[in-house]
Amino acid sequence: MRQLLADLALPDIAAAKVRATERFRPLSGYSGHLVQLKTSWCGTPQARARSIGTLPAMTELGPAAWPPAPIRTERLVLREPEARDRMAVIELFASPEVGTYIGGPRPRDELERTVPEEPRRRPGLFVVDLDGAMIGTITFDRRDAERPGHLRPDAGEAELGYMFLPEAWGYGYAAEACAAALDWFANALPSEPVVLCTQTANDRSMRLAAKLGFTEADRFKEYGAEQWFGVWSSVKSSG
Ligand SMILES: CC(C)(COP(=O)(O)OP(=O)(O)OC[C@H]1O[C@@H](n2cnc3c(N)ncnc32)[C@H](O)[C@@H]1OP(=O)(O)O)[C@@H](O)C(=O)NCCC(=O)NCCS
Repeated sequence: MRQLLADLALPDIAAAKVRATERFRPLSGYSGHLVQLKTSWCGTPQARARSIGTLPAMTELGPAAWPPAPIRTERLVLREPEARDRMAVIELFASPEVGTYIGGPRPRDELERTVPEEPRRRPGLFVVDLDGAMIGTITFDRRDAERPGHLRPDAGEAELGYMFLPEAWGYGYAAEACAAALDWFANALPSEPVVLCTQTANDRSMRLAAKLGFTEADRFKEYGAEQWFGVWSSVKSSG
């Protein structure tokens, strides 16, 4: 459970108090808030506690402008978080179903206290909107060097994360939204691969990863569970 403190979206309160303004330095022209919404749930607790705001959480977007214009799919919109998303953010992080393979839920009362009126925006974080209501989040983060599972020695690979409200499962929304996010990424950072890490026991996530075109690069044990590490690239090999 402690793992979630660093795993899920909201900051460890203690960590947030530590020079939050320094650690969550926004990009120029990017209006940030003190409390960060971070949805990278695959890091070690230590690494993530350390990394809240310090890892380059897609602040290095290269030539890509952030935020992009809202991305529209057949049924969904990918956009930045807004004040109207607050209750959905709390639901997402308090949900036992959502937390099953990502460290468990966060206490609702803590969430009520700590989620800001306007959930924090940051580069790499999309809210997924269905008919005006948030149903999930999609994130791109830079993978911590201390984690197992890498494609290159200097680490820092772009890592996809996704988390949807249980009532939105089973309709293909996550697949539709992630495909659009990967399309955006392929245009923003052409030729850069995307990685993904999920417990092999997380059947829905494993099916989604396969559907999106991720292929296995590694498997390892972490947090007492087998983890699947996959890679996706917009550049298709010629042979
Ligand atoms: C992982 C997660 C996003 C998957 O959500 P999901 O809704 O199962 O994923 P998809 O969007 O791919 O939807 C697939 C299902 O929608 C069904 N579906 C219904 N209508 C559909 C449509 N129009 N198009 C596509 N699929 C459709 C599919 O048949 C499939 O059903 P099945 O799972 O029974 O086979 C979700 O379970 C989740 O948020 N889990 C908690 C967070 C988590 O563990 N994240 C992983 C961190 S590494």
